[in-house]
Amino acid sequence: MQNMHTEIKKIDADEFDPEELLQAANILKSGGLVAFPTETVYGLGANALEELAAGKIYEAKGRPSDNPLIVHIANKMDINQLAKDIPETAYKLAEVFWPGPLTIILKKKECVPYGTTGGLDTVAIRLPANKIARELIELSGIFVAAPSANRSGKPSPTKAEHVIEDLSGKVDMIIDGGKATLGLESTIIDLTGEKPMILRPGCITQQMLSNVIGEVEIDPTILAPKMDHDFKPKAPGMKYRHYAPEGSLTIYEGDTNTVINEINKVTKEKVDNGHVVGIIATEETKSSYPSGVVKVIGSRKDEATIAAGLFDILREFDTLHAEYIYSESFGDNRLGQAIMNRLLKAAGYHINKLS
Ligand code: TXA
Ligand code: MG
Repeated sequence: MQNMHTEIKKIDADEFDPEELLQAANILKSGGLVAFPTETVYGLGANALEELAAGKIYEAKGRPSDNPLIVHIANKMDINQLAKDIPETAYKLAEVFWPGPLTIILKKKECVPYGTTGGLDTVAIRLPANKIARELIELSGIFVAAPSANRSGKPSPTKAEHVIEDLSGKVDMIIDGGKATLGLESTIIDLTGEKPMILRPGCITQQMLSNVIGEVEIDPTILAPKMDHDFKPKAPGMKYRHYAPEGSLTIYEGDTNTVINEINKVTKEKVDNGHVVGIIATEETKSSYPSGVVKVIGSRKDEATIAAGLFDILREFDTLHAEYIYSESFGDNRLGQAIMNRLLKAAGYHINKLS
């Protein structure tokens, strides 16, 4: 698998001819690997119902084999082919949020191999909104298993360049369809337990979900302060170290001025000692940091820009070989839970709460 030829195919998400996706669809149909854009992050696709094909994903990503894959479909009713004992709540959620950034976990039918579900009797299903993704699944005529298209442990890819960086030479094709607009992976909701439970927060929030199906719980490990021995997230993938930049990342939480002062203090210390320091700032604060490499993640006036900028900024600091990265905190908005879940993981749960 190492150093195979990887074809890079540019496709304009706003205006393309489905014919442009035929080759990619054929690769998927015949058991190969194709990375493609979705509205959340880029995915690495393979035939979900063929264990051998899905197995190639694990190899290309360097992914632990107990970490199950999300199966992507092009039509809502396809859940009936993949899942059994489907509760009414699943159809309600599909009606409101599909196509879109929601993954639903249901009991799997026999046709879904354990190689795709990481040995679990459940299956994660999502109908993506991105047109390229949907057209590709439709054209291939299969169900497409697709984790984020990064090497395991790296930040999820929000641009084709990120995928090329991580997977060039390891997959058959990478479709460059521009930026993933949301920038955070889908919300995962598990409907196989007594109560619906969010296993991974995302752009579809707890409030939005409970507006449709009533009470929804959240896996308590999602914002856990640290990885202690009680830390057993229900989504196997949530337990692995994730998104980690090369440098050591610390988050500072508190009122804006205190955070800025503290970040400036630690930055000066490190810079004076010859270290490369990166600062994750916002449009509102970028001019408050006189030293270090200051990068803007987005604007607090539009939290979606912060979600969309997170993974890219982590990769940019890797490119700069930042040894220390200091970040403001982003917990106090609607997407705060999803953003902080990723940022905390990237920081190895290293957060300084300033009063
Ligand atoms: O937005 C997304 O969901 C993206 C795009 C490509 O669709 N995909 C994605 O996949 O983020 P991945 O593999 O990076 O993350 C899937 C997460 C993992 O944490 C995995 O453990 C969990 O979903 N998961 C998958 N199937 C599961 C199951 N049956 N039960 C519990 N967790 C499951
Ligand atoms: Mg992932």
